[in-house]
Amino acid sequence: MLYKDPSRKIEGWLHPVCGAAIYSLLHIQREKGITGNSLEIGVYLGKTMSHFICDRNKNEVTIGIDPFVYSFQPKGLKNKDILKQLLANIKKLNQEHHINGKTILLKGYSHEDNIINAITKYKNTFRVISIDGGHGYKEVMNDLCLASTVSADNGVIIVDDYCNPICPDVTNAIKDFLIHNTKGRSWRITFGIIPDCSPLTGSTRIFLQRKKCQIDYGKMISEALNIITFQYEPKILSDYVHLGVDIFESNTHIFTPKE
Ligand SMILES: C[S@@+](CC[C@H](N)C(=O)[O-])C[C@H]1O[C@@H](n2cnc3c(N)ncnc32)[C@H](O)[C@@H]1O
Repeated sequence: MLYKDPSRKIEGWLHPVCGAAIYSLLHIQREKGITGNSLEIGVYLGKTMSHFICDRNKNEVTIGIDPFVYSFQPKGLKNKDILKQLLANIKKLNQEHHINGKTILLKGYSHEDNIINAITKYKNTFRVISIDGGHGYKEVMNDLCLASTVSADNGVIIVDDYCNPICPDVTNAIKDFLIHNTKGRSWRITFGIIPDCSPLTGSTRIFLQRKKCQIDYGKMISEALNIITFQYEPKILSDYVHLGVDIFESNTHIFTPKE
């Protein structure tokens, strides 16, 4: 399988190997006929979200939540207008790819009532949700609970910065969600991937699925990654370090790339 990275020219936080894992997940959903909407909390310039947009079917929506006020000055941007640049990035994706469905951007923080109300209208419809917004404990816990409420039964929640020493709150919130939260106890970590440069220029993404979901996403993503080739990235997959994250659950898949 060839990974055609739609986000290559978009600035942001997605290592190619994590992008390939997301691409594989979306490919698996397509093969299995799983349809539904997609959501990202913490969009920035749309690097991760571009994968959802390009994979979308007719009648599906991709929703992005972000306050679009970022104190970090993006490289090459003459102003701080994140939203303007994001809209330009989405327009370019539309020009370069055959895009179906609709993108909806919600300007605000994911804990705000109007945002939560807007998202819960799509309850049980999201097949994939990326959490990469606020990295504090309360924010991550809020986002995990929101994602659990709106995810489809066979949906996957992807969380960035797991076990990243720069933001330990993320790890703590995920751990508490899975162990102590009523909603969280129905989820398990199915897959984790750590680029070799983590945490400096890339970081761990973990993939959660419902325990009752019959599809073993982790196993299938691992299998897909073992045969994936990269259109742009010169490296091969075994140049990267991968770890299964089996500290909470014994049935998390441990990914071992072939030599
Ligand atoms: C690390 S960046 C996201 C990177 C992006 N996912 C990508 O693929 O490049 C974090 C983003 O989260 C946004 N953010 C911070 N707190 C948030 C919150 N409570 N709700 C939604 N977005 C938030 C920031 O404005 C910022 O754009």
